[in-house]
Amino acid sequence: MTPKILIIGACGQIGTELTLALRQKVGNNNVIASDIREGNEELMASGPFEIADATNFEQIQDLVMHHEIDEVYLMAAMLSATAEKFPMKGWALNMNSLFHVLNLAKDKKISKVFWPSSIAVFGPTTPKHDTPQTTIMEPTTVYGISKQAGERWCEYYHRKFGVDVRSIRYPGLISYKTLPGGGTTDYAVEIYHEALKNGKYTSFLSKETELPMMFMDDAIRATISLMEAPAENVKVRSSYNLSALNFTPDTLAEAIKKEIPEFEISYNPDFRQAIADSWPSSIDDSRAREDWGWKHEFDLQKMTTRMLDGIREVHQV
Ligand SMILES: NC(=O)c1ccc[n+]([C@@H]2O[C@H](COP(=O)([O-])OP(=O)(O)OC[C@H]3O[C@@H](n4cnc5c(N)ncnc54)[C@H](O)[C@@H]3O)[C@@H](O)[C@H]2O)c1
Repeated sequence: MTPKILIIGACGQIGTELTLALRQKVGNNNVIASDIREGNEELMASGPFEIADATNFEQIQDLVMHHEIDEVYLMAAMLSATAEKFPMKGWALNMNSLFHVLNLAKDKKISKVFWPSSIAVFGPTTPKHDTPQTTIMEPTTVYGISKQAGERWCEYYHRKFGVDVRSIRYPGLISYKTLPGGGTTDYAVEIYHEALKNGKYTSFLSKETELPMMFMDDAIRATISLMEAPAENVKVRSSYNLSALNFTPDTLAEAIKKEIPEFEISYNPDFRQAIADSWPSSIDDSRAREDWGWKHEFDLQKMTTRMLDGIREVHQV
């Protein structure tokens, strides 16, 4: 049977593309998009949309009951750089929205939940290279603390109440359809826009800052395939490590120069440098590969070509 899906935070960087991909898969009317603001034209035109606040339990419950929802993808959150500026707001949004959805699943009003975690769960004491699935986690950002706590609660609700919750620790995600929402890896999206518009970019992370990253198409494919995996294959109920690429601003600039030879990069690190320095530079995702067959498709050059073509087309640069 086709599931009825609710996406909360559907107008963001990931939610937009996830909504479009799920609508293509299960039919436009089976995927209800919701957010506190309207999304881009393509999203709004493609199917049902509701304004709802993820921190308001009644509003979310009403949506679930009214649309007879089976599965919820909770994409609303305050991201790493913004949450450092508004710590209490970030904590309240990231935690309360998760509790609301987990409690709806505990009460059997929905049958499956997707909730994204992040590489921000790791901290300066975590092994930096090939960070294992299970390791030291002492995050130093409000965002990272909220994601780590969220992971513990997901596992708790699964173990204690049998809630079918599934999660991925996304690396920095790179896409062209919508702009990123205030994270530490946003530079890797901005750089493409600026390369096309102005032929140069000033990076807010230093030349040698290596971080795990992924092209959005791979992230969406991973998300849907984890949600489709048989429950017994989903052995990690906190959140799966997931990896595709690792690069520095310098390597990314070199990849762009292969397509735009006159492109120039300069560096002016800001407060986001300290956040990036506390995160891993590469991730061991062998559990995701073993448990549900994860395999990435996009390497750096393939992603770069797609990003430049996509920005030219969507944003008419
Ligand atoms: N983008 C990345 O690189 C990345 C990496 C790791 C994890 N994640 C996680 O993935 C999820 C989605 O991230 P994103 O990049 O799409 O974020 P985003 O900021 O682009 O989108 C979040 C969406 O949530 C909406 N929202 C905010 N407050 C809300 C509320 N109270 N009620 C309903 N909607 C609300 C916003 O309007 C926005 O459309 C988040 O949990 C984020 O932590 C993202």
